[in-house]
Amino acid sequence: MRSRSGPTRRSFLGAAAAAALPPACVIPRGGGAAPSSQVPPDRRAGRPAPDLDALLAQMTLDEKIGQMTQADKTAIGDGRDVHGLCLGSLLSGGDSLPVPNSPQTWAEMTDRFQTQALSTRLGIPLIYGVDAVHGDGDVRGAVLFPHNIGLGATRDPELVQRAARVTARETAGSGARWAFAPCVAVARDERWGRTYESFGESPELVEVLGAAAVRGLQDAGDAGAVLACAKHFVGDGGTAGGKDQGDTRAGEAELRRVHLPGYRSAVKAGVGSVMVSYSSWNGVPMHGNRHLVTEVLKGELGFTGFVVSDWAAIDKMSPDYTADIERAVNAGVDMIMVPIRYREFVARLKALVAAGRVSPARIDDAVRRILRQKARFKLWERPFADRALTAAVGSAEHRAVARQAVRQSLVLLKNDRATLPLRPGVRVHLCGFRADDLGVQCGGWSVGWRGHKGTFTTGTTVRQALEQALGSARLTFSTDGAGAASADVVVAVVGEDPYAEGSGDRAKLELSPSDRALIASAKQSGKPLVVVLIAGRPLILGDVLSDASAVVVAWLPGTEGAGVADVLSGAARPTGKLPCSWPRSMAQIPVNVGDASYDPLFPYGFGLSW
Ligand code: BGC
Ligand code: BGC
Repeated sequence: MRSRSGPTRRSFLGAAAAAALPPACVIPRGGGAAPSSQVPPDRRAGRPAPDLDALLAQMTLDEKIGQMTQADKTAIGDGRDVHGLCLGSLLSGGDSLPVPNSPQTWAEMTDRFQTQALSTRLGIPLIYGVDAVHGDGDVRGAVLFPHNIGLGATRDPELVQRAARVTARETAGSGARWAFAPCVAVARDERWGRTYESFGESPELVEVLGAAAVRGLQDAGDAGAVLACAKHFVGDGGTAGGKDQGDTRAGEAELRRVHLPGYRSAVKAGVGSVMVSYSSWNGVPMHGNRHLVTEVLKGELGFTGFVVSDWAAIDKMSPDYTADIERAVNAGVDMIMVPIRYREFVARLKALVAAGRVSPARIDDAVRRILRQKARFKLWERPFADRALTAAVGSAEHRAVARQAVRQSLVLLKNDRATLPLRPGVRVHLCGFRADDLGVQCGGWSVGWRGHKGTFTTGTTVRQALEQALGSARLTFSTDGAGAASADVVVAVVGEDPYAEGSGDRAKLELSPSDRALIASAKQSGKPLVVVLIAGRPLILGDVLSDASAVVVAWLPGTEGAGVADVLSGAARPTGKLPCSWPRSMAQIPVNVGDASYDPLFPYGFGLSW
């Protein structure tokens, strides 16, 4: 419909809506000068945040609605509309990445958009949001941590806080000052494609680690701190059948007991934003639930930050977009992640206010909440990306924190006859393509929404790391297990390919036929077999458990495969504990700690060591 250069406002919206667009918020452009030259020097240099009540009093309705609007980078083209519509926020969806993609191009891009915002009448800075859910996954070269499920296995809030602090500083280095993280979902059904984004199945674990992540993201120093976002409010991990964006069927007491504690603790830790869930609760879409968003979250829990919608989520509530906007804003959603049809959103919300369907007081409340967080994260003082942080993206120091997190996330499920750690001097045959695939290690939300196989960023595969740890003379490698017989021990790496959200929903979680063939071929060698799982959730092990002498779960470790080699080689002891119950079969799912009859293959909290 809308090309990048764009039809005129008139043709896109119709004359009436075009007239409603705000000419008022622009500083007149002088003689075709570049937008950057229009930013007054004090705004470029940074300045103290103004008194927010006084600022609000000066704002026109157009300027207020602009603050409530978040557009995606791909829809905004050169960013002229940031200026023209006084937009308050932009995001990069999982695939909205600059080309070429580097920390530097990110900083330049976000600075360009910021320049547009600063050149408006009031010069309110923009806040740029990204899915920095395991490190700043959008940026090529950034360090990527284990996904949350692996962090859940560490049981270590101090480590999670440290990891989040690194994520914050790398994210800020790219010029984004808002991370859509942490995900405080309590994943109750492994069929759900977002299980790996959850710290685990127990509300207590999510409570503790979610709060630690909030602190790490938001307390990373004046330049390095980013606004955190607890998501997805509420009950996203409890949908029937583990269906993404599905329906959570539970009484309010159950919803509060399982899915709310993560928000209570995130709010206590000072989280500045909360994202609403695509899912519904007993058939009612969360984006229209005034009781939970306004009464419970903002009222009862005392949340003073702002609520953002999920990606195009309000559109899904009904076929009537105007009615959806009315319902969501009145339910208490303060900023709308539109993210594409933002002109239409602006015009329709404005019409709703004119018609008295959305009150000026609700608009003021939303805008005040947004401005307060911008002031808190010093966007007036430091509107642009800090180039010292840009230069530190992917640094050795940051990678060391991730390697530590990987070590601590590994869970040892079986270790017969002390097969692990690999004894000094043994010859090892490593097999399976997953042992040498950085993309598989990273999973989704890694330089692309659903991630990719192969090498697309900087990091160390398990194979490279084991070669370093053991020496190449002691390690052979094959994708299919050929050559295993000439070694003393075989290590087979099996698991899942990258996915995100609904594309990861699965009715079956058995190993793939090719992974099973790999294990069969490795077993034929007659040598002790170590199976390493690289997966975002428990997989049904079946015979693998008896075929293998040792089984290690590495989750989705991210870029630092050296952490896996540290444990296999004995440089570090395994300490990870299962963040979720390990089911015996598909028929047993869902199985969660505390169930009336509880008989998983491995219980919540299981994990061996030596
Ligand atoms: C996801 C969110 C994410 C947003 C922006 C949505 O599809 O549900 O978790 O923050 O996209 O990428
Ligand atoms: C975006 C993601 C978003 C998803 C929602 C994708 O195109 O890149 O960020 O979460 O759409 O469906």
